[in-house]
Order: sequence, then structure tokens, then C-alpha cells
Amino acid sequence: MGAKLKLPSSTLFIWLIISTCALTIFYSKLVPSSSPPLVPCNLFAGKWVIDPNRPRPIYDETCPFHRNAWNCLRNQRDNMEVINSWKWVPEDCELNEIDPLEFMGVMRDKRIGFVGDSLNENFLVSLLCILRVADTGAKKWKRKGAWRGAYFPKFNVTVAYHRAVLLAKYQWSEGDEVKGVHRVDVDIPAKDWEDIGGFYDILIFNTGHWWGYDKFPKESPLAFYQGGSQ
Ligand SMILES: *[C@@H]1O[C@H](CO)[C@@H](O)[C@H](O)[C@H]1NC(C)=O
Repeated sequence: MGAKLKLPSSTLFIWLIISTCALTIFYSKLVPSSSPPLVPCNLFAGKWVIDPNRPRPIYDETCPFHRNAWNCLRNQRDNMEVINSWKWVPEDCELNEIDPLEFMGVMRDKRIGFVGDSLNENFLVSLLCILRVADTGAKKWKRKGAWRGAYFPKFNVTVAYHRAVLLAKYQWSEGDEVKGVHRVDVDIPAKDWEDIGGFYDILIFNTGHWWGYDKFPKESPLAFYQGGSQ
């Protein structure tokens, strides 16, 4: 990413919105709702709706877990009002907003890990800022090879992110006809997360746009291997 005000491209932003929704759904499923009782419901069937009355984010630009260049609130990204008005409405059920206190109650003594590309990193930042509302003593946390994360002492909860854009192992080697090739072993996990399973109680994965040509152009393409052969 470039310097300040280098904001996500529109594609990225759409991804961000989609993933935020998926994450919200994920957490809403974890947190038991006190009212009304949960009926079995497919939260993934629904649509995006603009709702100008939708509550604004419960954190602001001062949240210490923001990444500077991506702090859309502080950088005053155009159109924030409209962007923040989108909400996901499932067809057959209510999707309440995440309640940080309730969430932390359920997650007490647990460790949550995100693995993937910048999409999951954005998830993480958003979630850390939300959860911080329930524990302002939250501290930055960066161990076990994690890129970034936080520890919430009040609930003994750790939430961290491990960067592994393809999830699979990949390495660069110079080529003859092309500048070089990125060998991707699709059945081998990337080093970044291969041994973190014992540490976390919950792992949330994502991968996507790094598999496209914009990240690995013709001069340095991906070459896929499975079981060691191409
Ligand atoms: C905090 O949680 C970890 C597991 O995530 C657990 O091993 C540890 O004992 C807990 N610490 C306290 C003080 O409860």
C-alpha cells in the first residue's frame, strides 16, 4: 500500500463489505440471542439493503487497531455515510448487530485466529475495534508469528491475524521463458499457519483475489502443484 489516503480499490471495497457481512453472520450465530428465540434460518440467503437509519459503527477513528492508510474514518473517505448505510438482511430471520459484551462473554478464555489476505485483516481490525468497546484495556498482541492482533485482559481473549494470501504454500523461483514462477503446492499449508492450530480455539480462513492475474501477471505466473507434481 502507498502512503496516506491510498484507499482500497472499489473491488476490494466490495469484498470488504461482503466479508463484513459474512463475519457478522458468523458471530451472530455464535452469540446466543436472548430475544427472540433463534429459529433455524439460512443467514446466507438474503440481500443488501440501504438503510440510512442503520446504527453507525460503534467505534471511531481513534481505535488504536486501525491501519493508518486504511483508516477510512480518519482519512475521511468519500461516501462513508452511504457505505455505512448498507446492511445485510436475511430472508427469513432477524440479524442483530453484534453485541461486544455478550460476544466476549461467550468467548471468554478463547483464542480466535484469522488466516488469509487483507480481507481477513480488515475483518480483524473491525472486530478488534468492536470488541475494544467491551474492554478498553485491550493491548496490541503479536506473537506466534501473528502479523497483528490484540489481547483483551478483562475476558482473557486473544484475537490475531496471520497473513497467508493463498493459504497454500508458495515460493518464487526464476524461470527461463518467463521472469519467474510462483510454485503453489495447493495441498500444503503455508508456513504462516501450518502450526498454529493447537494455539487457537477458532480459526477463520479466507482467500480469493490473490489467485487472479492482477496479483501474479504473465511474467511471473502461478504454477500449481498437487502431490508434488505439476
Ligand atoms: C486464559 O486463556 C487461556 C486459553 O486461551 C488459558 O490457557 C489460561 O489459563 C487463561 N488464563 C486465565 C488467567 O484464566
